[in-house]
Amino acid sequence: MPAHDPALLEWRSEFPILASTTYMNSNSLGAMPRGVYDEMKAFADLWATRGVRAWHEGWIDMVGEVANIYADVMNAPHGSVSMHQNVAIAQWIILSCFDFKGPRNKIVYTGMNFPSVMYIYEEQRRNGAEIVTVPSEDGIGIDLERLLNAIDDRTLLVPVSHVLFRSAYVQNARAIIEKAHAVGAKVILDTYQSLGCVPVDVKTLDPDFVVGGSVKWICGGPGAGYLYVRPELARTLEPACTGWFAHKKPFEFVPGKIDWAEPAHRFDNGTPHIPALYACRSGISIIREIGVERIRRNSLALTDRIIDRAEAKGFKLTVPRDHEHRGGTVAFDLPHAKQVAAEMLARDFVIDWRPQAGIRVSPHFYSSPEECDRVVDVIEEILETKAYEKHGEDLY
Ligand SMILES: Cc1ncc(COP(=O)(O)O)c(C=O)c1O
Repeated sequence: MPAHDPALLEWRSEFPILASTTYMNSNSLGAMPRGVYDEMKAFADLWATRGVRAWHEGWIDMVGEVANIYADVMNAPHGSVSMHQNVAIAQWIILSCFDFKGPRNKIVYTGMNFPSVMYIYEEQRRNGAEIVTVPSEDGIGIDLERLLNAIDDRTLLVPVSHVLFRSAYVQNARAIIEKAHAVGAKVILDTYQSLGCVPVDVKTLDPDFVVGGSVKWICGGPGAGYLYVRPELARTLEPACTGWFAHKKPFEFVPGKIDWAEPAHRFDNGTPHIPALYACRSGISIIREIGVERIRRNSLALTDRIIDRAEAKGFKLTVPRDHEHRGGTVAFDLPHAKQVAAEMLARDFVIDWRPQAGIRVSPHFYSSPEECDRVVDVIEEILETKAYEKHGEDLY
């Protein structure tokens, strides 16, 4: 059985918000590391003192530097990850490498994808794509056989989540990728809810693309999404969603058709989002230093503890019980859940509420076992005392 790793609590002092709250919201917005203050100051200082020279004295190199930290965390080779504002943009870059004019025009995805990774694909019908959505039967997971059977020799792309955002259900990425490759389809694995909490090893899994962002388990704040492309595939792709930073020599401003940079820069587009890269560097560096395998063992111990305590009190949970399928979040399906969440926030228990998911509680490596107990106890107390009644429909 995985056990709590008390040495991880030494990291608590690096996260200012832990001094004043029980912070269990890594499925939504991870806690800010203290190092972000220095990073943002370093960004401002370079700009203030060096002006336009900042590009060549740090800013350009840091795009690749941050991308390589992400690459380390997913066991990908350096030079295989590019940085983007968010997952939606990364999906568009991928999509723009393909068309749906030929017989292989099918996109297979699941009803539990994050909305960005649904809305964009649904819109591809206008470009000739056939969309197949595999629904969830229980609102928690996706039947693997049903998904595998939907992937056939007319399937071009399979954009799926590694960990489902509503229920934290871990999908069998390896089986999905193996089936897709066997029929010539490509998998776009959304690791937003796994990277930083559940191990992602691209050398073992061999996905074609991996997308995600910095906001959640990475503790990196908004704006530093990532895109990994399998190196042999990357050299063959030409994204129509492009810009001058994808050119081999961007600062020569050559007119006409683009001369593609080597991967991963060929997946860049316009001016990079430098402040967000500074902001995310502390969080992703901490995750790399601790190691995701260690974070995962600790996370399972903490979510076990929450589940055991919650079930002993008779709460209904929408979360996989087995470790193989459980991510880092425990979702509570409660009466008056939105108002209970509002009262928890008022008491500085930082969690969130989502439709069809309920109250989502996400301890991270810095969370203590006592905090896990308190989060369950406060829910019980709020329900028993009806303290939720003072809240209306607004959560924040
Ligand atoms: C699985 C998953 N994918 C994507 C996103 C976000 O997408 P974007 O970066 O486009 O905002 C989220 C959550 O915000 C998510 O949970």
